[in-house]
Amino acid sequence: MPAARPDSPTRRRAPLAASTSVSTLSTVLAAAALSFATAAHAAQVEVLHYWTSGGEAKSAQVLKQMLEKKGDTWVDFAVAGGGGGNAMTALKTRVVAGNPPAAAQIKGPAIHEWGDEGVLMPIDDVAKQDGWDRVLPPEIAAIMKYNGQYVGAPVNVHRVNWLWINADALKKVNAQPPATWDDFFRVADALKKAGITPVAIGGQPWQEAETFETVALGVGGAAFYKKAFVQLDDATLKGPTMVKALETFRRLRTYADASQTGRDWNMATAMVINGQAAMQFMGDWAKGEFTVANKVPGKDYLCVAAPGSQNAYTFNVDSFVFFKVKTPGVDKGQKDMAGLLMSPAFQQTFNLNKGSIPVRQDLDLSKFDACAKKSSADFKAAGAAGALVPSWAHDMVVSPAVEGAFYDVIGKYWSDESMTAQQAANRLAAAAKTQ
Ligand code: BGC
Repeated sequence: MPAARPDSPTRRRAPLAASTSVSTLSTVLAAAALSFATAAHAAQVEVLHYWTSGGEAKSAQVLKQMLEKKGDTWVDFAVAGGGGGNAMTALKTRVVAGNPPAAAQIKGPAIHEWGDEGVLMPIDDVAKQDGWDRVLPPEIAAIMKYNGQYVGAPVNVHRVNWLWINADALKKVNAQPPATWDDFFRVADALKKAGITPVAIGGQPWQEAETFETVALGVGGAAFYKKAFVQLDDATLKGPTMVKALETFRRLRTYADASQTGRDWNMATAMVINGQAAMQFMGDWAKGEFTVANKVPGKDYLCVAAPGSQNAYTFNVDSFVFFKVKTPGVDKGQKDMAGLLMSPAFQQTFNLNKGSIPVRQDLDLSKFDACAKKSSADFKAAGAAGALVPSWAHDMVVSPAVEGAFYDVIGKYWSDESMTAQQAANRLAAAAKTQ
């Protein structure tokens, strides 16, 4: 039987003794009034998120603890599933039922789509008071606003175009981290010969899409990437560079193991951590897993930009939005949480665990490791060179409908050898028109 809740009728209250003196009574009443006031301020904040792997859960814990320090109560609504697809389905069900969570982890254009539904609570007052416009890159601030008002609070910048490498595996084949695709396949052949699985991947649509996105950036460069995946230019989507990217992507399959179907991304990272596989293409939430396993960058593992993408940076920014809820008082907790998410203390501790870097541009990174420092330097350099690109596989640029259609094409192409690269490119161009 579940334990009685504090407010449960099955919990007996001590009756006031008849002999209670007036002064004791007034002390009791004052205490009761105080606890009522505290209760009125203690908002219950139900938070939908999908941070359930080792490193992610540790990061979510930071948020929970800091929110509770403000006197609010965290109600956990965790929906497992990397990339957040399952969480978004759960969210829709709750909003349609008229019972949204107080806060949800949502990114990119989906923020605007929820804004169009009229269900979001603006947090512009918090943003103004804390000067968010002064510390956020303007491109990211724009994603967080609906009708000119902040409705989203960003927490980090994840870089997506990384290659994670087990340092010992590379040493075994006496190789350097691959800088070009030719290097990559040479190293991968050597690893295969040495009996090490070159590439760890989980056969889930979002992981295949993310890997392809990274290959496309490395093969075609930032200008090509933007034309194809930001402008959705038809000729670029089905043109020769896309075909080359698709061919390169398919080649990767022969270097991955056969039991990839359905594997979670963190299980693929674990393969690299324990040396069962040598490399993984994955955003830097993977670093959270290395950190939890007490692995040291530069010694146990290496973080390098994926081949050919050294000068570019695919960004993926996690953020939370707040839903209008019926329960009175919850808005206090929602605003507490919005302020907290953008606070320097939270951004520092959270990102140390999460593998990302703070989205606030005014923070000192001296406590961060070499991968995070590289991420920050590359973010700035890519921004200055026009090579900062949004991750379409991680909800940052195309509509959820187009993203889903792209996932389908890439997933089918990855598993069906009879589809040619040109056919897949044509299908991408068609998918870009999904409404
Ligand atoms: C999110 C990350 C998360 C990753 C794996 C990405 O879409 O931005 O925060 O760790 O998916 O679930």
